[in-house]
Amino acid sequence: MEGMEYFYELFEALPRCGPGDNESTRRAFNIIPKLPKQPFILDIGCGPGVQTIELAKISNGKIIALDNHQAFLDKLMKTARDEGLEDNIVPKNISMLDMDFDNKTFDIIWSEGALYFMGFQNGLKRCHQLLKNNGYLAVTELVFLSSNPPPPVIQYFEKEYPDIKDVKSNIELIQNEGFQLISNFTLSESSWFDSYYLPAKKELSRLNKKYQGNEIAIGIFEEMKNEINIYKKYSDFYGYEFFIMQRVNLQK
Ligand SMILES: C[S@@+](CC[C@H](N)C(=O)[O-])C[C@H]1O[C@@H](n2cnc3c(N)ncnc32)[C@H](O)[C@@H]1O
Repeated sequence: MEGMEYFYELFEALPRCGPGDNESTRRAFNIIPKLPKQPFILDIGCGPGVQTIELAKISNGKIIALDNHQAFLDKLMKTARDEGLEDNIVPKNISMLDMDFDNKTFDIIWSEGALYFMGFQNGLKRCHQLLKNNGYLAVTELVFLSSNPPPPVIQYFEKEYPDIKDVKSNIELIQNEGFQLISNFTLSESSWFDSYYLPAKKELSRLNKKYQGNEIAIGIFEEMKNEINIYKKYSDFYGYEFFIMQRVNLQK
């Protein structure tokens, strides 16, 4: 994509790269019924790693933090060092499309707002391979919260995320791909604003001034502004759903 450097300049300045908050991370983790004393965890698309740090604090586990953008991993590891958690987290700069771990390696796979980069269904398949028997997968995924979203919402997602489904269809997909759903819940509106859209709005006004006259940069910032405005107007109709599930054997 042309102008990726502006996109990254914006996102590197934000605490998170997508909706989420520590309360939801803890809530999802606490739903997992039974774990080894030191679970081996893979965090796919960890970004700057707010949820990785929280997981390191609450899980007593070893976490592979995987992302294909080095600046995010550097930010995560700086926080890990500041918090004395660097021995619990191993950063790995590869694409989630090229993961080369052995099958049945992980007790937990975590992915907040990122699994869709490999296609949600494909991501479920890959996680099923990488999880130990009875291992757990916790992911957030963009969903329709209404069976009848208004036309502007449908049009927006036809362009931005044509694969978006409602919660029920995602649960069917999860079950078809060899998982038993343990629980699911919708992220609150504050998980969109507090660490994501509000800091983004602040950054956008700074960057719009900095790059005045640069059409490519301004175009990228406009898309983000539009995304925020759509959410403000239509947040009743879509959201992020946390799905917490357990690997079972595939029936197929
Ligand atoms: C929406 S952000 C979510 C980041 C983080 N989990 C959070 O909630 O703040 C998606 C992340 O996926 C990463 N990503 C995108 N495509 C990827 C790929 N092919 N392989 C690995 N990471 C990827 C991005 O660099 C970004 O950090």
